[in-house]
Amino acid sequence: MNKVTVVDHPLVQHKLSLMRRKETPTAKFRQLIREISMLLGYEITRDLKMGTARIETPITAMDAPVLTGKKLVLISVLRAGNGLLEGMLDLVPSARVGHVGIYRDPDTLVAIEYYFKVPHDLEERKTIVVDPMLATANSAIAAVQRVKEAGAKDIKFVCLLAAPEGIEAFQAAHPDVPITTASIDEKLNDHGYIVPGLGDAGDRIYGTK
Ligand code: PRP
Ligand code: URA
Repeated sequence: MNKVTVVDHPLVQHKLSLMRRKETPTAKFRQLIREISMLLGYEITRDLKMGTARIETPITAMDAPVLTGKKLVLISVLRAGNGLLEGMLDLVPSARVGHVGIYRDPDTLVAIEYYFKVPHDLEERKTIVVDPMLATANSAIAAVQRVKEAGAKDIKFVCLLAAPEGIEAFQAAHPDVPITTASIDEKLNDHGYIVPGLGDAGDRIYGTK
């Protein structure tokens, strides 16, 4: 079974609590998700392959550590995924970016795709799929399925909040894809929202409600 990593770093947890507060305004929410995504990005890139390159400092020559492994591609599940994407791109500016447009039908909670554009060479890249919310996991399961169909083999999924129900469903569908999250919350409510959660991530990032 794939691994679930909860990033319990104090800065992540404090920022997440600020995001959860219903009175946190849109601009602050957006700033916080950008900051948190850098911290999650730091965690998820821990296992990138390293080598050395011969360089010269102003003092002397040295074999300096450099990244040598597969290049990264970040896949944002629109639209709330873009909140996580921005901070991760600050961290890894050379990453390629793909977008999967998916929304959840509010009545059936089924994931509906409306857009798909990813780099052509996914086989050769480490792929990180980002979406702040793993609720029923219908959206994440569909997004990862599409990314696999496009060739990706080395895939990780990163979110802010995960419901236990979503983790179970995601692991059943994609046992090869590890999950990194800032929190495993209590449960889903009758409308498929994460409890205690932070509400609708897209609405909170873009101020649409
Ligand atoms: C939210 C969120 C996830 C999805 C999670 O997107 O960003 O993509 O819900 O729910 P699930 O695990 O039950 O599928 P939403 O459908 O609200 O679309 P939006 O990002 O365009 O607002
Ligand atoms: N999508 C969200 O944005 N929030 C939830 O709690 C569940 C799905």
